[in-house]
Amino acid sequence: MKITSALLFLLCLVWQVPAGAVSNAERSEHGMVVSANAASSAVGVAIMKRGGNAIDAAVAVAFSLAVTHPTAGNIGGGGFLVYQGSEGSPVAYDFRETAPGASHPEMWLVDGQYSYERHHLSHLSVGVPGTVAGLYLAWQDAGSLPWADLLAPAIEQAKKGIVVTDGLARSLEHVLPRMQKYPASVAKFTNEGTPLAAGEVWRQPDLAATLKRIADKGPDGFYRGRTADLIVAEMQRGGGIITHEDLAGYAAKRRAPVRGSYRGYDVLSMPPPSSGGVAIVEMLNILEGYDLAASGFGSARSLHLMTEAMRRAYADRARYLGDPDYVEMPLARLTSKDYAAELRGTIDPEKASFSSPESFTWPAESKQTTHFSVVDKDRNAVSLTYTLEYSYGSAIVVPGGGFLLNNEMGDFNAGPGLTDSTGLIGTSANLAEPGKRMLSSMSPTIVNRDGEVFMVTGTPGGRTIINTVLQTILNVIDHGANAQTAVDLGRIHHQWLPDVIEMEKLAFSPDTIRMLEAQGHRIEEIDDQGVAEVILVNDGVLEGGVDRRQWDGGVAGY
Ligand code: GLY
Repeated sequence: MKITSALLFLLCLVWQVPAGAVSNAERSEHGMVVSANAASSAVGVAIMKRGGNAIDAAVAVAFSLAVTHPTAGNIGGGGFLVYQGSEGSPVAYDFRETAPGASHPEMWLVDGQYSYERHHLSHLSVGVPGTVAGLYLAWQDAGSLPWADLLAPAIEQAKKGIVVTDGLARSLEHVLPRMQKYPASVAKFTNEGTPLAAGEVWRQPDLAATLKRIADKGPDGFYRGRTADLIVAEMQRGGGIITHEDLAGYAAKRRAPVRGSYRGYDVLSMPPPSSGGVAIVEMLNILEGYDLAASGFGSARSLHLMTEAMRRAYADRARYLGDPDYVEMPLARLTSKDYAAELRGTIDPEKASFSSPESFTWPAESKQTTHFSVVDKDRNAVSLTYTLEYSYGSAIVVPGGGFLLNNEMGDFNAGPGLTDSTGLIGTSANLAEPGKRMLSSMSPTIVNRDGEVFMVTGTPGGRTIINTVLQTILNVIDHGANAQTAVDLGRIHHQWLPDVIEMEKLAFSPDTIRMLEAQGHRIEEIDDQGVAEVILVNDGVLEGGVDRRQWDGGVAGY
């Protein structure tokens, strides 16, 4: 649908976002998918056109992204899915990777010294994958088409090949040095050592065969039999510790979403082992006490208040959050309006407060997750974020299996007592233990209005995920942005420590930056922050916003 410039101007006045910042959103009536790959979004819509629902589409898109978007789309990683059906209670599916049975808190030490290589770039950094089990659990609960039909498009893409895009070719060039020590990885991602070039057709026959086993046998096609044998053989070859028992024992979990409200809208997001939902609700509760719409998008006052909310929520995140099956957490308090009011009492509206580094900081998490949003004709909604941790995960392709393994164990803390000023963490809530899930920031989120789905949002980006999701929500609810504008507008990030506001380049005025600095904030410019994928439901019309910060993303609808 085309919007005339006069209408755009009027919308700008109503929406209170800067005139130049309003973007056209894609619109459709029945169903929509927004993902990091346009062809995978189209796979989801084709499933819905055949009568599939949002869960069917999400399963098909997730498997398709494992073929088209190898930086983060996966079967060898893990993630989270928040589902809001048009009927029944919402459910959060937790398919985060787990620590293998032989894990222990000191596993990243070599001769008593912390080893980054061991923690992030070795076979020991591979967690037991959760994606296949999680997608299957969600499908068992709410899918409607046969399981195998949902894998068929991905198998076809892997077998017949996909066209390598400019973005994929560039990213492969970047990762190839890291893959050199793994022959199966080089074989998969090059033509006998020559990087895949944009425009060529890339076939993945081993991945197609693995997907076919999963199509035929469900999770047993991954966690048992040939695929499990191939994973365990690679672990033994490379000094990893994942066993057949670890794989056969993996279980995805249903959890109750974290719930909050913001100016009359209901917010559902991912509970621990994600830190995202709790932090988003805490920040929204704090910010509800201020009139951000009156302060305006990008004003020094709005950015100051957002920063102070971020600082406080990230400090709590660092202090309290971990795997709920291993750690006690004060979740009710952290997400309460009363606690937010207490925190507001500590915010000076004119002056930056101060993050104290004396206790602990927070480990870095990778930027390479991927998120997609799905809404179907019955207004069932799926918000799904999954990851391999680093871009291309561990960079280890399972020989004969054709898929990448994650390096998610790097999201556990470094070791007991290892907290230091370089950012190493030694606090206990997130130390490696057998079967434990490592803390995450992934925050698939759904916002409801009057009991119906209004917004489906999420983003990749490690720690920045939480703040990116927060800002897409504020952009829509406080500043009246449409779905595309909500993702296009500039973003900031503050995570308590280091005590600095990261701001996207050219996104905010120099005057605003000077005012923030005068209040005591330290500012650093960054190129970009995350890529959000948003669907809004407005008067029955689906509106998609796909982030232009990424290479291949796309909205598909019908
Ligand atoms: N690996 C990134 C995250 O889970 O937040």
